Amino acid sequence: MKAELLYEGKAKQVYRSSTDSEKLVLAYKNDATAFNGKKKESFPGKGRLNNEISSFIFPYLHERGIKSHFVKRLNETEQLVMETEIIPLEIVVRNLATGSITKRLGFEEGSLFESPLIELFYKNDELDDPLINDDHALLLTDVTHKDLREIKVKALEINTVLKEFFQSINLQLVDFKLEFGRLQNGSIVLADEISPDTCRLWDMETGAKMDKDVFRQGTGDLISVYEQILQRLERWV
Ligand code: TMP
Ligand code: ASP
Repeated sequence: MKAELLYEGKAKQVYRSSTDSEKLVLAYKNDATAFNGKKKESFPGKGRLNNEISSFIFPYLHERGIKSHFVKRLNETEQLVMETEIIPLEIVVRNLATGSITKRLGFEEGSLFESPLIELFYKNDELDDPLINDDHALLLTDVTHKDLREIKVKALEINTVLKEFFQSINLQLVDFKLEFGRLQNGSIVLADEISPDTCRLWDMETGAKMDKDVFRQGTGDLISVYEQILQRLERWV
């Protein structure tokens, strides 16, 4: 199924598909990194868990009208996706204040935003993925005003769908990061992954952090937390 390796990121490898030149194979790695790769550890089983979780969420979104690059899960650690040109923006949606925004702007930890807040970061490791505004995005990437509006509308739609879904499995969707890509026909679709690496999820009863923050902050066992997320998804089905 896999042909040449096109790209290797911190959490995934991207291969060309050997059977379909318009498709790619995403292979999820066991590595976890934080602070732009300064903290790094390998967790056997993490690749499988994120692949399973993301392979659940993308079809769930598709059924609710959110188009994405996702085609199908191939095996434990790999999925088939449409080839897109990734727009080098990280679109962060926040429902509650935590993480970088509390340090940057002094919001009280855990405080609720009246409306979900969107932030853009420029995906560039050398620059440490800096926070940028729309004008920067227009200069640094090939997006237009219309594309940015479309991306933000989609990000908020995804937030509405996922917030309600996670609530149904007793998890509060605190914030998350999305990436979008362009298909060959130019249309913009959701890409990358949605997993506990890219979302903050807090248990609604205990407030426990059930995402990569346990690794970032060294407060818990990443694999057992990700296993619990997958189990809740599987029980929902
Ligand atoms: P932040 O509070 O560190 O800015 O993170 C906001 C959200 O984005 C959080 O859900 C974690 C996610 N995220 C990524 O997926 N990749 C990253 O590189 C960073 C910094 C955050
Ligand atoms: N994925 C990012 C990194 O290593 C950071 C993070 O998720 O906190 O660098």
